Amino acid sequence: MSFSILGSGHYVPPRVVTNDELSTFLDTSDAWISERTGIRERRVCVTENATDLAVEAAKRALDKAGVAPEELDLILCGTVSGQYVNPPLACMVQERLGATCPCLDVNAGCSVFLYMLECAAGYFARRTVKKMLVIGSEQMSRILDWTDRSTCILFGDGAGALVLGEGDDYLASTLYAKGDDRVIRIPTHIGNSPFYQGEQDSPYVHMNGQETYKFAVHVIVRDIEEVLRKAGVAGEDVRWVVPHQANRRIIDAAGRRVKSVGGDKFFCNIDRYGNTSAASIPLALDELAQSGQLQKGDLVVLAAFGGGLSSGACLIRW
Ligand code: UT7
Repeated sequence: MSFSILGSGHYVPPRVVTNDELSTFLDTSDAWISERTGIRERRVCVTENATDLAVEAAKRALDKAGVAPEELDLILCGTVSGQYVNPPLACMVQERLGATCPCLDVNAGCSVFLYMLECAAGYFARRTVKKMLVIGSEQMSRILDWTDRSTCILFGDGAGALVLGEGDDYLASTLYAKGDDRVIRIPTHIGNSPFYQGEQDSPYVHMNGQETYKFAVHVIVRDIEEVLRKAGVAGEDVRWVVPHQANRRIIDAAGRRVKSVGGDKFFCNIDRYGNTSAASIPLALDELAQSGQLQKGDLVVLAAFGGGLSSGACLIRW
């Protein structure tokens, strides 16, 4: 046994920041950003934090699933921009929802949702859980250097959540990691130890865009093909691919290369949200479901990549 998806939800803060607004304080333009990335606007927290976003997304997913917080047996959260290093985001969500189950956060950069689903499948296989909440939530705006036009234009804030129950709809998966802090890293706050004499790296997103781009296209194609092979499913039987929303060009390039599936099945909402890291996959999946384009029984491939370096893909039945 693995799991079935009982409900999904997402939440984004109401404040919209367009590319034009960014160009009022950065040397950039709507033309550059939309041509190179496909992003037109993103949501940004003004008073909210990653906990607030996660709680809202979770409430919507629980509502959709018809599951009460007290029924949950585990909460898993993924974030790189949570309110605290500790307590874990999952514990803060548990308190706010009024749940009582064990909670933990998982860190696998932008691939974390795929890693969390694999963890979830393990819990279901051991039959130690019957209902689980899995959330990706990010306040990326608090860990961006807003003077660095090469990174701050790419990201946005938001959250997405899934409620999982017992079932057999997690069909195949593949996960990879290759330790590397040169391509993507987010250093933690260094503190003010009077003894520490090492280097201080600013606590913002650092990224080598071109290296990330090359890595992303390579792994997303490899992982999707691999997961289809493992499941013994033909690309033409896949209804949707929901890829991590990092750059429209990456999604298009992957769509062109995974010929058996076809690029028109690659869902993309990056124009409105930018890269919301851990939230990107569940947010996109929920938008797709809400739009009525996803029917019960549809086969969906999820694929992500990011800091770690890490990547992964899975095949689910909706
Ligand atoms: O979840 C994490 C995953 N992250 C990603 O997947 C990011 C992957 N990488 C990318 O999406 C792209 O590499 C970027 C969108 C980040 C950059 O696009 P690029 O085509 O690789 O541009 P570039 O870094 O080669 O920069 C080209 C030029 C440079 O100017 P020069 O040196 O040619 O004069 C940059 O300084 O564009 C300049 N530039 C900008 N210009 C206007 C960089 N950022 C901006 C900007 N506005 N925001």
